Amino acid sequence: MRLDKYLSSYAGMTRKEARQAVRRGVVQVDGSVVKSESEHVETGQQILLNGSEVQAEEFVYYMMNKPAGVITATKDARDKTVLDLMPEVKREIFPMGRLDKDTEGLLILTDDGALAHRLLSPAHHVDKVYEVDYEGELPKTAVEDFAGGLDIGERRITKTARLELVAPGRARLTISEGKFHQVKRMFAVEGTRVTGLKRTVFAGVYLDESLAPGTYRRLTEVEVEQLRIGGNHG
Ligand code: URA
Repeated sequence: MRLDKYLSSYAGMTRKEARQAVRRGVVQVDGSVVKSESEHVETGQQILLNGSEVQAEEFVYYMMNKPAGVITATKDARDKTVLDLMPEVKREIFPMGRLDKDTEGLLILTDDGALAHRLLSPAHHVDKVYEVDYEGELPKTAVEDFAGGLDIGERRITKTARLELVAPGRARLTISEGKFHQVKRMFAVEGTRVTGLKRTVFAGVYLDESLAPGTYRRLTEVEVEQLRIGGNHG
């Protein structure tokens, strides 16, 4: 494929912008600057635009260790967004689901709209695991209460959830829905208050704990496959 077509297909540019970028000398193929937009390139070659790799996949998938203090949105006039932390990514990705501003941990970002739609549809029960710090005393019946479903003010009680009591003030919760502030509301109706929340698993994909908060990496092929499997049942 011609270099300008490659860039317009995979870097979110128009053909004209692609041509201009090539002529400006900001495009490299396998380590060398190429100034001819009609240069033929093939998959397997490394194409860099302004130093960032432009991949030829149909879709891209990333995991971020979301830090507290940024919002799960693509842009915002006031707050810093998760996409503001990924300026090198040229594709039009968006977050798969939402974590609150003060929640940390696993967030998947992609441009695969169909997969995101499947995984986020209420008809699917995609497991998500959260590490929860809380204040106050949970009732003795908490594990059964979470398993049996809680009335958090929605039309229906929550679906069965698995609560593990890890240490005083610390628990692990697995839920399969994603209602607004769901974990915080579940803990609130049990008489406690969430003081820290971190997601560690989404649809069978585990947070890579070597990612510092605010950093991200591509999903591996195995992880992408895991998401696809996660998106196909439930
Ligand atoms: N539940 C919450 O209350 N907040 C989140 O960010 C995710 C789940």
